Amino acid sequence: MIHVLFVCLGNICRSPTAEGVFRHLVEREGLGDAVTIDSGGTAAYHVGQPPDRRSQAAAHLRGIDLSRQRARQVTREDIEAFDYVLAMDAENHANLLAISTPGNRHKVRLFLDFAPGPPGKSVPDPYYGQGNGFETVLDMIEVAAAGLLDDIRDKHL
Ligand code: 4NP
Repeated sequence: MIHVLFVCLGNICRSPTAEGVFRHLVEREGLGDAVTIDSGGTAAYHVGQPPDRRSQAAAHLRGIDLSRQRARQVTREDIEAFDYVLAMDAENHANLLAISTPGNRHKVRLFLDFAPGPPGKSVPDPYYGQGNGFETVLDMIEVAAAGLLDDIRDKHL
């Protein structure tokens, strides 16, 4: 069993979207029994809340239901328990490394490093933005999700 955790700041926009998109992909590929998927936030502001309505609406247009997910805060124990701890941006990546024990730091990666192209990219925070930020988030997440599944297949399945 491979355990994947997506992490952003509030756990109401980017990481719940990644959780929903990746679960949809994993189930479509018949791997639902081989991979567990969760998400969390480095901040606690939105703990217990469902994903942002704008994230839910954008995902719904692509056939993905985020409505049952609830925000929670990530802990050091999560980094221990999960195999992949995937930060949506550089700031959350740094914050995860700061709470991780040295032996678990290799699990903490930037999610977009699983997408083609140069490493080091971040998923932009759509929360305060205007326009189609939520569509952009979904587009980036879909590409990286495919790369992540390839990596899991290559290394673990
Ligand atoms: P997320 O977006 O990290 O993608 O869930 C945000 C949600 C809430 C806030 C910031 C980012 N906030 O400041 O409340």
